Order: sequence, then C-alpha cells, then structure tokens
Amino acid sequence: MRWPILSAKSTALRAKTAIALAGAALLPGCSWIRAFDLNGHQSTIDVEGPVARTQTNLFYVTCWVTLVLFIIVGAVLAYAMVRFRAKTEADEHAVPPPQGHGNPLVEVGLISGAVLALVIIAVPTVKGIFYTYDVPEVQKGEAYQVTATGYQWWFKFEYPAEQIAGHGALTTGNELVIPAGRPIHINLRSMDVMHSFWVPKLAGKVDMIPNRANLLWLEAEHPGYYWGQCAEFCGESHAVMRFRVIALAPSEFNAWLNSQMAPARDAHPGAQPATAEATAQFASVRSFGQNETGATGAFEVSPLDAWRRKQLPDSNEDPALIARGRELFSEKTCSTCHTIRGNPSAVGIVGPELTHVGSRSSIAGGLLDNTPEQLRRWIHNPEAVKPGNKMWVTGYVPNHITLSAGDEVCLVSYLESLK
Ligand code: CUA
Repeated sequence: MRWPILSAKSTALRAKTAIALAGAALLPGCSWIRAFDLNGHQSTIDVEGPVARTQTNLFYVTCWVTLVLFIIVGAVLAYAMVRFRAKTEADEHAVPPPQGHGNPLVEVGLISGAVLALVIIAVPTVKGIFYTYDVPEVQKGEAYQVTATGYQWWFKFEYPAEQIAGHGALTTGNELVIPAGRPIHINLRSMDVMHSFWVPKLAGKVDMIPNRANLLWLEAEHPGYYWGQCAEFCGESHAVMRFRVIALAPSEFNAWLNSQMAPARDAHPGAQPATAEATAQFASVRSFGQNETGATGAFEVSPLDAWRRKQLPDSNEDPALIARGRELFSEKTCSTCHTIRGNPSAVGIVGPELTHVGSRSSIAGGLLDNTPEQLRRWIHNPEAVKPGNKMWVTGYVPNHITLSAGDEVCLVSYLESLK
C-alpha cells in the first residue's frame, strides 16, 4: 500500500541529492556558501586567519583540478556508452572488434595530463606545507609563545612568557586567549594518549603526541571567538573534547593577562559560610537528557561579547554561599586535583587550573557553556556529561563523593565567583 508514497519520496530525495551534488561541485569561490551553511563554528571554508586560508585555498585548487578531471572522464565515459552501445539484437551477439595494444598518442597524452594535474596540485601543496609548518622568518620576532597540552579530555594552555612567582607559567584550561593580528606559536604536547589540535577557522590539525614536541602556528586576523576540537580519536569522550580560542586586540589581551596573573578573586573576604539549613532550600537539579546540548545560546549571537560579560563579577552573588563553597572545595577533595591560586589547599595539577574559571565561557572540556545551571549539571553527574572522565573515574567513584543540592549550589557559587 505504501509503495507509491515511498517511491514518490525517493524520487524527490534523488532529485534533491542530485541538486546538492551539482551545487557542491560548483561551490569553490561562490557566494552560495552561506546558503549551504558552510560558515558554522568549525567551518574550514569561512576562515579567519592566514594559515587556515592557505589550507582552504589548497582545498580549492584540488577541488578545481579534480572537477576538471571528473568532467573530462565523465564526458568520455558518457560518449563511449552512447556511441558504442548495442543498438540492435544483432549488435548484442556481434563478435568483438579486433583488439589493439592502444594508441601511443593517447597514452602519452594521458600521462602528460596526469603529470600536469599533479604539478598543479603539488606546487601549492609543498609551498603550503612550508608556510603552515612554522611562523614565517620575517614574523618570527613578533610570535607569541603558548604551550598546549592534551589530556583525556581537555586542553591545558600555558603562557611561558608570563611567570608567576611560586607557581610557574600562567595556566588556563579549555580556553586559549591570544592577541589578534599576531602570530601565535604553539608547542603541542600530550599528557596521555594522542590528541590533535584543530581550530578549523584558524589552523590545524597537528597531532599532540606523548613525549614528542610538535608545533603549529596560527594567527587570528581580528578579534573573535573560535571553536576548537580534538581531531584524533583519543578514547570514549574524544568527540566532546573541545576548546575555544578567544582573540583580543592587544590592549584588551594585556588587560586579560593582568587579571589572570592575579590570584583567585576573594569575592567577599570574611563572609560567614552558609549553614546546612540555609542551603537546604535548594530543589534538586533538573534532569538533563543524555544528549541534551550544553550550548545555551548565550554564546551564539555575539560570543565575544558574551565572553567579555563573563569577565565581570555577577551582581547577584551570595557571599555566604561562596564562603561555604570554598570550604566544600576542600572538604569534597576537589582541591587535590585542581589548583586555585589564592586558595592554599587547592594545589592539585591533575585537572584543569580553576583560578579564574568563573571568567571562562565554557566548562567540561568546552562541552558546556559556563552558566551556573550547566556548571551544576557538570558537577552533579560528570559521567553523564563526559563519559569516562577522570573527575568521575578517579575522583567521585573511589572517594565516594556525594553532593547534596545545597552543596552543588555552594560550589557553583564559589566557582562562578572566580573571575
Ligand atoms: Cu583528544 Cu580526541
């Protein structure tokens, strides 16, 4: 009964596919890009830096060469199929014509054509490899150095030029803030397995390999907010191992550095911690779907402005909850894995440094937007958000860590206050 409907549908689908394929073939250099939504967060087509642009241009060269080959081969094939098809009953049983060894002119022509196609692709490829490998000699002096280390499943970023007495280099997690218009030279490391560093709109991918120093450079042409992604399978939560790159004008970048160099903000010194009775009022956390997105929309419209707002303290913060959250951070042993400069008990280096976690736009390895609700979702059940993560496997489970609804709210208040 349903066959006619099905076949009508599949005809429409086939037509749509054909149109899409024809459109894809015509894409390079054409303004339909936006109509095809190829300007998403992780677009390699709509790029904003010289390294990614070199890679995109190379893609176009390859696309055009293969498109020409496709048209020539397709035309010859179509011609042969039509011209030499069996037209009558007699043709179908005819003896094949005498077989020759080939035509020297055609063979030489094919070989030359193939060599030419290869040269057209190889020249920009080799140039691109040298260009993207390291900061060009003329720009070397102005390059800013950063070290990026892959962990299962998050990224650590260190700024070796910014040394903090007693702590070493300035360290952040999941968000790489850089000056725009300046080449960034990134040393790539891994703490466990192989990862790969990729910011599609700026540069990538280069593998992060244990015990091996790889490097990559990138430049953001203007201030912006970029999405990055681990691009090498590295375990069960590989697909959600993300990060952000925030490019700022030099003066804003320096202001950011100054605020990050300072120890954690003590939101309300001397505040009395909230009592258990005072925190008991909080309802349990709402349940989140297994695959519910952690993108709240706050960072969609104007992500850089949303990020800037995260740098400022929340006017509604509650000193008593923050003070209790600070106590809980030690009581629940969070402090053994995370560093918070300015909190003497928080000196762990297994997890991301959290000194200024409240000023970041994302948490949980870039998977969730950093809002109080999403942060509470993360600490409420880390395993549901990022399966296999170390905070759950080596923290919550063996140490039997349980958080009441009140504990969660206090911890979130404390962490969000760390601007
Ligand atoms: Cu790290 Cu995939």
